[in-house]
Amino acid sequence: MNTVKTVLDLRAAVARARSEGKRIAFVPTMGNLHAGHIALVEKARQRADFVVASIFVNPLQFGPQEDLASYPRTLTADQEKLLGAGCHLLFHPDVEEMYPHGMDGQTRVSVRGVSEGLCGGSRPGHFDGVATVVTKLFNMVQPDIAVFGEKDFQQLAVIRTLVRDLNLPIQIVGEPTARAEDGLALSSRNGYLDETQRATAPVLYRTLTQLAEAIRGGERDYPRLLEQGKSTLEAAGLRPDYLEVRDSNDLRPATEATRQLVILVAAFLGKTRLIDNLTFEL
Ligand code: PAF
Repeated sequence: MNTVKTVLDLRAAVARARSEGKRIAFVPTMGNLHAGHIALVEKARQRADFVVASIFVNPLQFGPQEDLASYPRTLTADQEKLLGAGCHLLFHPDVEEMYPHGMDGQTRVSVRGVSEGLCGGSRPGHFDGVATVVTKLFNMVQPDIAVFGEKDFQQLAVIRTLVRDLNLPIQIVGEPTARAEDGLALSSRNGYLDETQRATAPVLYRTLTQLAEAIRGGERDYPRLLEQGKSTLEAAGLRPDYLEVRDSNDLRPATEATRQLVILVAAFLGKTRLIDNLTFEL
């Protein structure tokens, strides 16, 4: 597996693979890779001949009070994991390579609708940062397909919408959330949790499962149900940011008539903000 740091080298390596008739898959990441990321690379390998991953901690998607500076950077371990998973090329640019003209004047991609509310409400500008860097990366790599985790459900919806709206010829593939044995969704931010917090964290997924069971069992008073869910999280020591039931197709608030549902949650455990979601059909 080669690691390249410039757009020029990236394009040359991808062009070589293309000239050999290879189908290109892309897995964008911010590094600190865990089994969830490796599942994305494996899915990419199943669907294409040449897998490109990127590791770039994108400053544009972090708010001023967020964890940009402390976000774990573990390049050597990540390279080993990518190599083991069969990745062919790693793009690891620095900030100047991605934003050579600075970030203030950078053209932004802003996806309407699905970016609003949920994480978009709590993290203003976050999805503009994600949509902008993903569009740039797509233009640099020009893959046939790109694989993203369903754990970041709203992010996946934002990316599907931007690909549709900007007519990008890229197939977006979602990969189900990888979980620890106790149900906690794998996330690079789980590393911030101390032992006690880590033991508490699975309550997030348990709560989602309980809510889904109640809805499957016929409960339709979503506001009441969600209040109960928030109380469960609070009782366990979490501070809910949001807990909502939405239509999984367009992220609009669910009504009694909605059949394809997603329950989405974000909550703070100490200073760590965790997200998770559960999709199901009625
Ligand atoms: O999900 C992530 O790791 C990031 O948001 C992404 C898609 C790599 C963009 O920086």
